[in-house]
Amino acid sequence: MFPEINPLHTIAWTKLKEHLPECSNTSIRELFASDKARFERYSIRQEDLLFDYSKNRITDKTMQLLLDLAEECGLKAAVDAMFSGELINKTENRAVLHTALRNRSKNGISVDGKDVMPLIHEELSKIERFCDEVHSGRLTGYSGKKIKYLVNIGIGGSDLGPHMVTEALMPYQDKGIEPHFVSNVDPSHLSGVLKKVDPETTLFVVASKTFTTQETMANAIAAKKWLLDRSNQNSEAIFRQFAAISTNGAEMTAFGISPTNRFTFWDWVGGRYSLWSSIGLSIALTVGFERYEELLQGAHSADLHFRNTAFQENIPVIMALIGIWYRNFHGCQTEAILPYDQHLHRFPAYFQQGNMESNGKSVDRKGNALEYDSAPVIWGEPGTNGQHSFYQLLHQGTVLVPCDFIASAQSHYPISNQHEKLLSNFFAQTEALMMGFRHEDPFRNFEGNRPSNSFLLKKLTPFTLGKLIAYYEHKIFVQGVIWNIFSFDQWGVELGKKLASIILTELGNNDLISTHDGSTNGLINEYKKLRQ
Ligand code: F6P
Repeated sequence: MFPEINPLHTIAWTKLKEHLPECSNTSIRELFASDKARFERYSIRQEDLLFDYSKNRITDKTMQLLLDLAEECGLKAAVDAMFSGELINKTENRAVLHTALRNRSKNGISVDGKDVMPLIHEELSKIERFCDEVHSGRLTGYSGKKIKYLVNIGIGGSDLGPHMVTEALMPYQDKGIEPHFVSNVDPSHLSGVLKKVDPETTLFVVASKTFTTQETMANAIAAKKWLLDRSNQNSEAIFRQFAAISTNGAEMTAFGISPTNRFTFWDWVGGRYSLWSSIGLSIALTVGFERYEELLQGAHSADLHFRNTAFQENIPVIMALIGIWYRNFHGCQTEAILPYDQHLHRFPAYFQQGNMESNGKSVDRKGNALEYDSAPVIWGEPGTNGQHSFYQLLHQGTVLVPCDFIASAQSHYPISNQHEKLLSNFFAQTEALMMGFRHEDPFRNFEGNRPSNSFLLKKLTPFTLGKLIAYYEHKIFVQGVIWNIFSFDQWGVELGKKLASIILTELGNNDLISTHDGSTNGLINEYKKLRQ
């Protein structure tokens, strides 16, 4: 049974509020000075990854109270409910089983009494076969040339996941496929990409859970026309060079996708959790199916850790609890994700959707208005670029921004000592934020006491990346349980979509309109004048 506990009614919440002032009396710097074992106690190694959470405004008592909060909110039951396929996404009446997609065990997982593992394995085999067809050159473009370019057309979870992962795994792109991603309905996005690819050797992958998303369908239709125009209206080009992934088989057929190029997944996979499904096709095509499987294995390893490890040693649980400590007790409005790895440059954007679409809610599981805050704003950029941009505020601004730093010990590129330069900055920043620096000149003074978590990976491989992503996913889940909200729907995106479709009809002529509020009418009418 999925718990529905108002966190404000827990003993731990009250105690955490009482604990805040006593905790605020001591800086993290002082906590380190008085406890030589702090790093060891507040860091966790899992395989080739270290998670250090010692640079936080926490004591043993803080952690104990946060763990009590998790217990009181029924976290254990919630974890079991998710992994066992209960319909925990009640507002959409769906199970939440992205974890099944990366289940490497022999255990079955059932939804509505039916084991879904055979379906998952069947789809994975199909992806493997398709990759083999493309990589071996058996599947060619309409003129017989080997596929060289891939254009993934999708948006939100159907873009951010595959895009983030292919970028992160760039050193593994050795299959002779150059990936491109088109998401925005702005025609400049597709046009820009089409300038870089060749109609004879480009495979288009249309990724959309619903296959009705306006942006994706507009881009897919435009890409289809582009290919037909350049292939002398050769329908074989569409048959060979378009693949699609969706839960909506009928729409894929209607679009003209060849039966062998259609991939499916299921409604119990949320869009922002779908890179583990056949939405990951672009990843597998780019880095190879074996690497894609390693990614799944890494995520599975994190799933086992999350499901089987005591909460006090559990990386995603601790990430979530520390986040709650800052969000609900310190009033932090934002969290930064700062990867010290250029290949992770889309990681903050990916988890912006992950966190903000999942937990950006203001009613609880009973529909009552929340009396506490839910998701913070998530943002970030790779270090060291961020250092020369917004770190000023992190160090001396008036807002407290808890930061996650991510770095790898080994680089894929042994160019002089540049990687050491990068890592020296990573270490320095977490130290500077926490230690600060006393200076009599107030302009040069650093208060310090600014918290951070650090992930140090041995190397950014498909396996460690899979693990890292899954930790962040489970962090979101844990926070959703404690905030007592539905983390797997996204009704908040619907209103804008509906209005846009009404407005699109109104843009079809030059009549002045008065059907909206004053500002919207004014903007639309001005646009109608300016476009002529
Ligand atoms: O608008 C939000 C959303 O529904 C996301 O949740 C999803 O990832 C994205 O749109 C794309 O949806 P689809 O995969 O159905 O095209």
